[in-house]
Amino acid sequence: MENLNVTPWEVSGELNDAAYSKLVEKFGVDLINDNLLNRIKKIAKGKLHPLLSRNVFFAHRELNLILDDYENGKPFYLYTGRGPSGKMHIGHLLPFTFTLWLQRVFNVDLVIQLTDDEKFLIGGKQKSEIEKFTNENILDIISLGFDPKKTHIIGDYKSAKTLYYYATDVARHITVSTIKAVFGVNDSDNIGKVFFPSMQIVPAFLLSAVSKKKMRCLIPYAIDQDPYFRVARDVLPKLGYYKPSAIISKFLPALQGNSAKMSSSKEESAIFLDDSREQVRKKLMKYAFSGGRDTLEEQRKYGANPDVDFAFLEYSFLEEDQNNVEKIYQDYKSGRILSGEMKVIAAEKISDFLEKLRTNREELKDKVSEYLFDPEKLSV
Ligand code: TYM
Repeated sequence: MENLNVTPWEVSGELNDAAYSKLVEKFGVDLINDNLLNRIKKIAKGKLHPLLSRNVFFAHRELNLILDDYENGKPFYLYTGRGPSGKMHIGHLLPFTFTLWLQRVFNVDLVIQLTDDEKFLIGGKQKSEIEKFTNENILDIISLGFDPKKTHIIGDYKSAKTLYYYATDVARHITVSTIKAVFGVNDSDNIGKVFFPSMQIVPAFLLSAVSKKKMRCLIPYAIDQDPYFRVARDVLPKLGYYKPSAIISKFLPALQGNSAKMSSSKEESAIFLDDSREQVRKKLMKYAFSGGRDTLEEQRKYGANPDVDFAFLEYSFLEEDQNNVEKIYQDYKSGRILSGEMKVIAAEKISDFLEKLRTNREELKDKVSEYLFDPEKLSV
């Protein structure tokens, strides 16, 4: 745990329960308790998204104030994002399914930022490559079913004028020593890294700024992104806005079982959106980290550990009916279902999900512009 290091640009060390407890303490976030879950459940008419009920979204910052505002009929909005550094795989899309669920439950506006500039400054990729991924990633994200009237996708290069204008307000309140301490930037890093965080902070008040209505903002992200929003919470009150609230997740497991940031570089490292049914099944069979036992006999006798099993976890994140999930959980844990059978169940669920996305994606190819940030379109 000594070498645990979690920043938006580097995640190293093993991310187990103890590591998350340490991050919660170090970053100063709060755990989501039953009281908050019950409040959300009530608003969502008795249902919770699997990523919430399975404690993947596990921490928050002032989520209670968002719920207070909602219950008092005051507007708020959502903000999340993606760094377009490669093809998106299923693990990248799951956090967006959660944001979509929040958008539908609360019926609110959502800003999605694509930090192409971040990926240029930090990842060392060519601009042409990043541009290609930006366009592809936007299509992947909207294929999940976001409402074009309430969804505002903002690319940093494309909307640089608007973002830069407000980023300078932010930058004026951040010192180089803060950036060094919070992001682990050092003297040999390029200066873009020092300024970039101002760009990612802007959407946390953008809708309040352009609509001239002071509103709270709720930001879903995995805990690696927290440094941006810790700094945002210091700066925004100085600009006359609310501190942003956050709903924070653990890292989702990767296909082969480690839970560090998921890579898009190798085909066998993840399940991609364009994988066929056959490829999904093969990848699960061949590579998926299993919580099963070594032999059939042991598996029948002692059962599996579903909590670390990639196939079970993916199935549980995509299956809306919690009764089904509970049944499969018990059957797998007790040895009634074997690892191979679990993989078949998960493969079907994943392939159905991907197939729907691919159909939507085709239909949306010419409609991307309807989703792009346009101040005129704001209904807030
Ligand atoms: P990026 O592209 O690295 O990640 C996009 C979102 O996915 C989360 N994430 C994960 N979630 C679960 N399991 C994982 N293994 C995992 N790895 C990454 C990230 O925390 C993020 O929420 N700079 C950002 C883009 C961004 C953004 C935002 C993200 C701009 N504004 C506001 C969240 C909120 C980035 O490169 O994300």
